[in-house]
Amino acid sequence: MQLHNKKVFITGCGGMLGNAIYPYFKARAPEILAIDIVIEQHEKDWLNYLDVREPEQLKKAFREFQPDLVLHLAALVDVERCEQDPADAESTNATSTRNIAELCEQNGVTMVYISTGGVFDGKKDGFYTEDDQPNPIMVYAQTKYDGELAVREVLKRHYIIRPGWMVGGGPNIDHKFVKLILQQIREGKKTIHAVTDKIGTPTYTHDFAMTLFALLETDKYGTYHMVGKGAGTRFDVAREIVDICGYSDEIKMVEVSSDYFTKDFPVPRPDNERLMNAGLEALGINKMRPWQVAIRDYIKREYADYCKR
Ligand SMILES: NC(=O)c1ccc[n+]([C@@H]2O[C@H](COP(=O)([O-])OP(=O)(O)OC[C@H]3O[C@@H](n4cnc5c(N)ncnc54)[C@H](OP(=O)(O)O)[C@@H]3O)[C@@H](O)[C@H]2O)c1
Repeated sequence: MQLHNKKVFITGCGGMLGNAIYPYFKARAPEILAIDIVIEQHEKDWLNYLDVREPEQLKKAFREFQPDLVLHLAALVDVERCEQDPADAESTNATSTRNIAELCEQNGVTMVYISTGGVFDGKKDGFYTEDDQPNPIMVYAQTKYDGELAVREVLKRHYIIRPGWMVGGGPNIDHKFVKLILQQIREGKKTIHAVTDKIGTPTYTHDFAMTLFALLETDKYGTYHMVGKGAGTRFDVAREIVDICGYSDEIKMVEVSSDYFTKDFPVPRPDNERLMNAGLEALGINKMRPWQVAIRDYIKREYADYCKR
């Protein structure tokens, strides 16, 4: 698909990934409809309100905007919240995805559904490829996987893409691990704890946006992993961030197990979320950089004032 004459509808566009994807598409596609559920906090005049749990609002958007391509990013990503309110998680992550897929099918629209590497149970000894069988172990992952199943069932012209641990958004939007570590650096913490029993692959939103373009141009529909190159534990990622910011000599890094954070993050995550971009490699379009390089780039761009050098 070439984007120069396409109308693109992006859901959840105020979030970490949407924040990186929007400028890329804006520069290439003539018309964008970007929506999110909370728009005030983002202070972006290009962001419109729409709740993807409301089928009538979705139908209206399709009728009035008539998209050629839908990028469905909107999701309830807070793992603990999904566990506490599984009905809302199902409605936001799975039912809305089915409804969007059906609208795409009825209107001849191509759909990109962003799933998660968290759909696997984490028991594999090695990197997951697109051929491995998902087996979600928590509500968030189950509802995202239900979304995958709906898309595959309803619509042929689809891409299902699984990122790893998301990195991006900058200080105002980032609400994930990298921000948590940078926040502690900013607060002057002298000791940072991070777990060694969870391994995965950070995924920088800008690399993701670039690679998504390359994939869309191929018209090779299907399921793809799209993660940074390599793998690391949460501890490895935290240590890398401290090093990038120039605080290795001042901050003591302490290795802990997930039990240490049970109070804040009670829902068990998969031990292994290592993914490999086998599908992208086969197409010769794997533009995802090693995660260490991507995180360095991200911190230098967005958090320079959190760092010493
Ligand atoms: N974050 C990760 O580590 C990660 C990893 C793998 C895959 N993913 C997937 O990547 C996609 C993008 O996630 P992200 O990292 O950019 O997370 P994010 O920053 O939370 O973005 C998701 C956006 O969707 C919005 N949203 C939630 N419910 C909605 C609704 N009913 N209607 C419209 N918008 C709604 C959220 O608003 P609120 O913030 O107000 O809820 C948020 O702005 C998601 O599909 C997610 O499942 C994320």
